[in-house]
Amino acid sequence: MAANFTLFLVIFCAFFQLSRPFTVIMTDSGVPSTLIDGPQTGFSINKNGARTNPQEQDAVYDIMRATGNDWATDIPDVCRGRWHGIECMPDKDNVYHIVSLSFGALSDDTAFPTCDQTKSYLSESITKLPHLRTLFFYRCFTCNPQPIPKFLGQLGSTLQTLVLRENRHIGSIPAELGNLTRLRVLDLHKNNLNGSVPVNIRPGTTLRSLDLSGNKLNGSIPAFSFPVLNVLDMSQNLLMGSIPFTLGSCQSLVKIDFSHNRLTGSIPDSFSGLKELILMDVSYNRLSGPFPTSLSSLTSLQALILKGNQMGSTAIPSDCFDGMKDLMILVLLNMNLHGPIPESLGRLNSLRVAYLDGNHFNGSIPSNFRDLKNVSELRLNDNHLTGPIPFGREMVWKMGRKLRLNNNSGLCYNANNGFEDAFDRGIGLCDAHKPGSARTVQHLSNNTDGDMTTTINVSAGAVRKTSVSVRLSQLASLFLFILLSLQGK
Ligand SMILES: *[C@@H]1O[C@H](CO)[C@@H](O)[C@H](O)[C@H]1NC(C)=O
Ligand SMILES: *[C@@H]1O[C@H](CO)[C@@H](O)[C@H](O)[C@H]1NC(C)=O
Ligand SMILES: *[C@@H]1O[C@H](CO)[C@@H](O)[C@H](O)[C@H]1NC(C)=O
Ligand SMILES: *[C@@H]1O[C@H](CO)[C@@H](O)[C@H](O)[C@H]1NC(C)=O
Ligand SMILES: *[C@@H]1O[C@H](CO)[C@@H](O)[C@H](O)[C@H]1NC(C)=O
Ligand SMILES: *[C@@H]1O[C@H](CO)[C@@H](O)[C@H](O)[C@H]1NC(C)=O
Ligand SMILES: *[C@@H]1O[C@H](CO)[C@@H](O)[C@H](O)[C@H]1NC(C)=O
Ligand SMILES: *[C@@H]1O[C@H](CO)[C@@H](O)[C@H](O)[C@H]1NC(C)=O
Repeated sequence: MAANFTLFLVIFCAFFQLSRPFTVIMTDSGVPSTLIDGPQTGFSINKNGARTNPQEQDAVYDIMRATGNDWATDIPDVCRGRWHGIECMPDKDNVYHIVSLSFGALSDDTAFPTCDQTKSYLSESITKLPHLRTLFFYRCFTCNPQPIPKFLGQLGSTLQTLVLRENRHIGSIPAELGNLTRLRVLDLHKNNLNGSVPVNIRPGTTLRSLDLSGNKLNGSIPAFSFPVLNVLDMSQNLLMGSIPFTLGSCQSLVKIDFSHNRLTGSIPDSFSGLKELILMDVSYNRLSGPFPTSLSSLTSLQALILKGNQMGSTAIPSDCFDGMKDLMILVLLNMNLHGPIPESLGRLNSLRVAYLDGNHFNGSIPSNFRDLKNVSELRLNDNHLTGPIPFGREMVWKMGRKLRLNNNSGLCYNANNGFEDAFDRGIGLCDAHKPGSARTVQHLSNNTDGDMTTTINVSAGAVRKTSVSVRLSQLASLFLFILLSLQGK
């Protein structure tokens, strides 16, 4: 790998098909090192004499044996073995040192040596690699679950990246990891770790990414303050207590994910300082209201996911979303929110996905929602909304079934806004007292041929369902369908 350490972080919102992943690229300036940093040409042109440090080579043999990779012990010089997953660097005497070891088939194009999951363990010989910067184990000890070894702390200030992902590690996070003072990445995602988050994880000035998600950690989130931290993921644990206000000083944060915990209290006002934040997910906790208006100054935010927290005692201020000009994904379902849908939402030109369903929103859908040209999925169902639906024909057709409006108190559609399939959604014409046929004919005469085809298809689907309940105001569309069917003969 190149000496200038480049880290790609891809933040997925896996559950939104439509959202594209956010890619964050971070480059590091060089780190003081006894090794010669610079482009590595590899061993192919490495002539006479250059070889791996013998103690480190023996340590690598041990580590490979411990993971069931005995084949490696036949390789006379491991740095020349050139398997994916080992990286070496020369010192000034042209002796090569191991700087990176990786295991596990992360993807098709990163074919690191796999582990024999039934008997693999982490060999203590790792502590004999004094130049090790990266240690990466993915799905390695799954059938032989073991705690994270305390001896990893002995890697001291050299180790920069520690990834122990989906290894079924048990027990608690050893306090000894606090000894890793120059860590940039600590990733313990999806193990069975319990106990609390050690407060002494404090590589304050270097930590870029901390991922402890998918464990059974309890206790509260320590009052971390990491100036260069980009990614903080503690989702899917059993964490309690409130979100520490000190996180507001982690001004480089790009992603915060605390979803699926038991956090209480409110989102700290200090979060308003997180100007780089792109994704914030605190869904499915026990956070309380009022709605966190401090978030309105998060100008980089692209995804805000607050669902499943009951914070709706008061209405959302109408200008609440004005600052979030880049927001693409907004998920506020099941939050017991009251009052009107804020108008500032309709001014978010980048908005693609908005789930506002399962609340108590009342009043009408803001008329500026018709300007949300990039919205491809909008859920407003299960609220108390009334009045006309402001979307034009094009938006309605584009969203199709991804526009959900059912179970509101009094939404209605205007005859010419492309809402002929309103049958399915239990929504009637706004002016329900006039005879429907007249309007329908007018509408029909307004259409181009292409539009009519679509109308028939949609109506045909709708008519099938009308056997359950045909409402007077809906007869219009049925009439249209019959009329067009006859014409077609
Ligand atoms: C911490 O690191 C130092 C060297 O930096 C080492 O001597 C010591 O044993 C380590 N302590 C633990 C608990 O890992
Ligand atoms: C953590 O898990 C281990 C085994 O998985 C168990 O022995 C230990 O009691 C647990 N500790 C806590 C604090 O729950
Ligand atoms: C964490 O869970 C363990 C049991 O697994 C319990 O003994 C301990 O008190 C809990 N800690 C906190 C801070 O709730
Ligand atoms: C809307 O989407 C189009 C096409 O995907 C894109 O070119 C445009 O920049 C988007 N507008 C905003 C405000 O995001
Ligand atoms: C919406 O509900 C609030 C109470 O939550 C009420 O005060 C207000 O009048 C309602 N507005 C409309 C338009 O129904
Ligand atoms: C309609 O929405 C309300 C929330 O506004 C919900 O409590 C109720 O269960 C929903 N009814 C149906 C039939 O889904
Ligand atoms: C369609 O009908 C409306 C009246 O409902 C009228 O204002 C509009 O100009 C008509 N459009 C076309 C293209 O005929
Ligand atoms: C309408 O139905 C025809 C034939 O069944 C089909 O080819 C066409 O794609 C449908 N149009 C839409 C918009 O579903």
